[in-house]
Formats: sequence, structure tokens, C-alpha cells
Amino acid sequence: METKLLNPTEIAIAASIIKSGGVVAFPTETVYGLGADATNEAAIEKVFEVKGRPAQNPLIVHFESLDDLFNRIPDMDCNTRKVLLKIKKALTVVIPRPDWIPAVVSAGLNTVAVRVPSCEFACGFIKACGVPLAAPSANVSGRPSPTRWQHVQADLKGKIDAMFKCDPTRIGVESTVIKVLPDKIQVLRLGGINTKLLEKIMPVEIVGGSKESPGANFKHYAPTCKMVVAKYDKHMTTRIQQYIKDKRATVLHWQNSTTDYNSKTIYLGKTPAAITKNLYAAIRRAEKASDVIVCEGFPDAPKYETLHERVARATEGVII
Ligand code: TXA
Ligand code: MG
Repeated sequence: METKLLNPTEIAIAASIIKSGGVVAFPTETVYGLGADATNEAAIEKVFEVKGRPAQNPLIVHFESLDDLFNRIPDMDCNTRKVLLKIKKALTVVIPRPDWIPAVVSAGLNTVAVRVPSCEFACGFIKACGVPLAAPSANVSGRPSPTRWQHVQADLKGKIDAMFKCDPTRIGVESTVIKVLPDKIQVLRLGGINTKLLEKIMPVEIVGGSKESPGANFKHYAPTCKMVVAKYDKHMTTRIQQYIKDKRATVLHWQNSTTDYNSKTIYLGKTPAAITKNLYAAIRRAEKASDVIVCEGFPDAPKYETLHERVARATEGVII
């Protein structure tokens, strides 16, 4: 299949592809998503197929605005609404699934994950489609999520109807997935929101890795080569220097400078936000030129929580 490469001005073309049951990759504030009409079962099945996604892993449904979401799901409980009104980016909430969303979207569960992107382009695109879009990240299942159109192209060219060629995404990791209970917020997947923000609204419980959070059961963010992370302590630099001797390594660094390592390096950025924005692109670049990727570790502080989790999964828990 020929994958149409669309400019940001070509929203109408992409919307007509969605309306006729096709799949289109588009940017959001977090990562690029692979969108399909959330009410069209055949289109949803295509999404699972092209990604090679396990049928047990449910998708997120994206709405053009909070108004549209509240109109289409009028019986959403007021605590969930309250959280959505307070946090307007990188947030996904799991709620009871209304009948008009087919069960395949939710991998058969009676809940559904919904979100309103904070990206103007994404919202404009969903609006033009006239229906909410079910969209997982636009990568082949297991790979790091795409933060640039080139990543989408590398994984899905020839397998999808069209993709947008837009700017790199602002946040760089996926949304935080939560469930709002009467007395607390359960975090099912850490993501673009610092959970400290959620704690200001209600007590927070992190429950990743359970049956509550199907995505946590599958291999994720894996580079094509080995990857390890160094423990963040005062010997980190020496340990990395020892480890990369005689290896074709790339060091992903944020703490030390390039000259500290006698190998290829990629600078991730200084702040947690900058590092997060660059992490997946750095992994995808490093894997092409290395036998092993070594990532400098991060301090044990809440603002690094999502980075810790994603790197732990990319390295399959290997710490040096
Ligand atoms: O930022 C994002 O969330 C991106 C952009 C494109 O919106 N999307 C994304 O989708 O990361 P995906 O499919 O790669 O991850 C969806 C996550 C998975 O961990 C899945 O298990 C969880 O959301 N999820 C979806 N529906 C769920 C449900 N009903 N209950 C629990 N978890 C659910
Ligand atoms: Mg994904």
C-alpha cells in the first residue's frame, strides 16, 4: 500500500480517509498516534493489525474537545470531569464504556480510555473527521513511541493509508493513564504528567503492572540493540567508562559532558522535560550505530518518575 505523506494543511484529505475507514498517523502533544474512526470496527481491527498489537491491549479514544467528550458521554462521573477540567494535557481517563464505542476498541473490557489532546493540530484533525479517533501510539508494537514523523515512517510506511509530516511532539512520552475512584486517583500508566499534580486534586495510588493496566503486561520501548542504564550515584561516570571500553556503545547523557566518554554520545537535555522530549528519538538514533546503548541514570526524585519507568522497560531492568 502507498502511504500518503501529508502536509499539515492537508487535513481534509486525511479526514476523508478516516471517514472511509482508513488509518492515518497524526501528532498529539505527547507522541504521534495512529488514528481510526472509533465507531468503525473494521478500521479498528486494521489498527491492531498494522501495529502487530496484542488483541488484549485496549486503545485510547481521542475527542476534539472537552465539550465534545462531555456531550458524547453525558453520564461521566463528576470527579472524573473535575480532573479533566483541571489537567488539560497528556491525560487519559478510564471510564465505563458507552455502547456506541465498539468492544474491540477496549479489547473486550467494559471500560474505555478517553482523552482530549492539548495539541491544536490534533484537535482540528479530529474535528474535521467528525468522529472520535481510536489511536494507539503510531509505532510497531514494542518499539519506542514516535515523537517525529520520521519515526512513524520508519515503522509504518507502506502499511497505513496516510501520515502527517508535522513538527516533533512537545512532550515526548505518552499520556498518563488514570482511573478516578470516589476517594483516590489510580495511576495505571505513568506518563507526561507529574503525579504530584494529581496529588493536589486527590490522593494518588500507582498501580501499573496489574490487570488494571493491560499495556504494562507487554514488552515496550525496546531498541533493536541491547540497552542498559547506569545507577545514579557518585561512581556512575567511572562505571560507564569501564563498561563501554571495547564496546561499540552510544552513551545517552544529561549529567556529564560529551568529553567524559570515549564513545559516541547523544545529549538528552538538562531538565526532566527536555530529557523526556528527546529520549525516544535518542534511542532510535543510537540503536542504528551501536551494539549497546548506555543511559546515564536519574536521581530518585518524583520529577524523574516517568523517565525511570520508561528507561527500566527499554533496558528490561538491566542496571550497571
Ligand atoms: O499519549 C498517548 O496516550 C498516545 C497518544 C497517541 O494519544 N497514545 C498511546 O496509546 O500511548 P497506546 O495504545 O500506545 O497506549 C494506551 C495505553 C495502554 O497502556 C493501554 O493498556 C491503556 O492505555 N488502556 C487503554 N484502554 C484502557 C482501559 N480500558 N483500561 C485500562 N487501560 C487502558
Ligand atoms: Mg504505545
